[in-house]
Amino acid sequence: MTEPKAGFLEVRNVEALYGQAILAVRDVSLKVEEGSIVALLGANGAGKSTTLKAISNLLGPARGRVSKGDIRWRGEPVSALSASRLVARGIVQVLEGRHVFPQLTVEENILSGGFVRRPSRSALSDGLEQVYTWFPRLKQKRKTKAGLTSGGEQQMVAIGRALMTKPKLVLLDEPSMGLAPIIVQEIFEIIRGLNRDSGVSFLLAEQNASLALKYADHGYILEMGRVALSGTAAELRARDDVHDFYLGGAQSRVPH
Ligand SMILES: Nc1ncnc2c1ncn2[C@@H]1O[C@H](COP(=O)(O)OP(=O)(O)OP(=O)(O)O)[C@@H](O)[C@H]1O
Ligand SMILES: [Mg+2]
Repeated sequence: MTEPKAGFLEVRNVEALYGQAILAVRDVSLKVEEGSIVALLGANGAGKSTTLKAISNLLGPARGRVSKGDIRWRGEPVSALSASRLVARGIVQVLEGRHVFPQLTVEENILSGGFVRRPSRSALSDGLEQVYTWFPRLKQKRKTKAGLTSGGEQQMVAIGRALMTKPKLVLLDEPSMGLAPIIVQEIFEIIRGLNRDSGVSFLLAEQNASLALKYADHGYILEMGRVALSGTAAELRARDDVHDFYLGGAQSRVPH
């Protein structure tokens, strides 16, 4: 039986451990409403990646686990679903650090995301064309080995591959990491477009809080594995203490 009104993504009081004792996440609760972009902010080691991996059931390979709390995807506990079944049900994660297969071409990398749904040949090529409309740069580089493309293009490949699974929610871990501001802006504009035109929801982990809050609807700020502050992006942007303590002061502000 499903609950009468199941939420989209709900994380309640989650604690996560690595090994027997390393407490990476102490108490995190958050929500993503369908159709929204939510920013998960915080400094190095705050617990952003651990939270995203807990949601998509990817802690196991890192010898981690959720030790308390509850994570539900459309009313169902994620612990009951393997990472690949979660993908089939609409949650996909783009891991931190742009994981592409360097020896495969851009196109082969993107296509590799398409197989979870056992698509027909035509569904696969439609999906690919769709990715190319979002990322026209990738179409030009389709035959290039992914390892030879720029960091920004590799991030686009990683996102494009995730989109081949036809997700409802994309968990995107530090899309801006190590990229030039102009490329980061391009990637965030594509995220905004995907959200607006295709209704894809995003949970974005970012250290670059002022950038993420420019695009997000809501934000959560993690500090040492706990939610220190949350609110609408406008509320968080307006708070001076958020800028001073969590967002790195004036330097990290992005001009509007
Ligand atoms: N595989 C692991 N084994 C043991 N401890 C880990 C592991 N991964 C992360 N941790 C620890 O868990 C805590 C949270 O790390 P996490 O990677 O979730 O932070 P983060 O907010 O994503 O940081 P960053 O911005 O640097 O990516 C840190 O103290 C980190 O050292
Ligand atoms: Mg991280």
